[in-house]
Amino acid sequence: MLMSKGWKAVVILSVFLLLLASLAGCAKTPTGESQGSQNQSAQQTPQQTAQSEKIRIGLSMDDLRLERWQRDRDYFVEKAEELGAEVLVQSANGDDQTQLSQCENLIAQGVNVLVIIPHNGDAMAPIVEEAHKSGVKVIAYDRLITNSDVDYYISFDNVKVGELQAQAIVEKVPSGNYFLMGGSPTDNNAKLLREGQMKVLQPLIDKGDIKVVGDQWVKDWLAEEALKIMENALTANKNKIDAVVASNDSTAGGAIQALAAQKLAGKVAISGQDADLAACQRVVEGTQTVTVYKPIKLIATKAAELAVAAAKNEKVETNGATNNGKIDVPSVLLTPIPVSKDNMAETVIKDGFHKLEEVYKNVPKDQWPKT
Ligand code: GAL
Repeated sequence: MLMSKGWKAVVILSVFLLLLASLAGCAKTPTGESQGSQNQSAQQTPQQTAQSEKIRIGLSMDDLRLERWQRDRDYFVEKAEELGAEVLVQSANGDDQTQLSQCENLIAQGVNVLVIIPHNGDAMAPIVEEAHKSGVKVIAYDRLITNSDVDYYISFDNVKVGELQAQAIVEKVPSGNYFLMGGSPTDNNAKLLREGQMKVLQPLIDKGDIKVVGDQWVKDWLAEEALKIMENALTANKNKIDAVVASNDSTAGGAIQALAAQKLAGKVAISGQDADLAACQRVVEGTQTVTVYKPIKLIATKAAELAVAAAKNEKVETNGATNNGKIDVPSVLLTPIPVSKDNMAETVIKDGFHKLEEVYKNVPKDQWPKT
């Protein structure tokens, strides 16, 4: 049927208008993101974008000065990328203000979830509220963020770590003069460790078997701070110190340096934590009694899985709850392992955390464990 000229004009105009309308819906923004998706993503929560796009995780670290945190970072990034996520890592070099602004920046960069190792668990509380305003979940990694609605906490049972440290020292030195070398006063873990240590020590103090001749907290867990504290303690006590309950390996290392200067290294029992390579060497060489091994690969890979699940609003497996002064935070608490020269081979070495020849490099080969 032939159409009149008038009808032809109407049809052409309608097709033109329809074409115009469909092009408007796919207009590109300067960033190249399609208008439609931009409107859509502007309304989407981070969890919704995580469903449709690559997950972005912000990893905010207190600092990378100590060996273990470099391992945490590497294992975390490796697992997160294996799960298809992108990780933006920031280290605050032990400064609260820096860590706060780095986290604000990560939120602004559109991360779906923040994983934070706080320099100061109290100082980082405001960032939880700010993250939630942007629909971003927050996971406290190994150190609790207090007085906030933090979404998850993953760590080892740090009270148990303290108990294991003190038990190993008491087995070796059931009575005598004890020095307590605490962790960083800004780190909630330092308080939990001391709580565990006192569970073991207090009954022996009450009996008069143990005398605490000194008790200091070490700024930022730094070995050089522990060295100064131990030098002063030895001077004040005329070297009459039989045991040191040190809360991690870097502080134990600083204390042992001071003991060695007085020819007391290996004569004074001392604890640690983290299974740093230098500490494992000291343990097999006899200058450090024990370290507490917390499989870093385990916590880092579990944290990466947790972060991806949280980003997608999926169910997260937790095995406890930890009160942070405001709420009972859903928690994943892992089991720490005491390591002495007797079980170094079947723990740290067997896990591949350190190589046999690295740990025993200063020990005559005929004394190496048969593996
Ligand atoms: C603590 C942690 C210890 C040790 C210390 C030094 O929070 O529980 O394992 O790593 O930090 O950074």
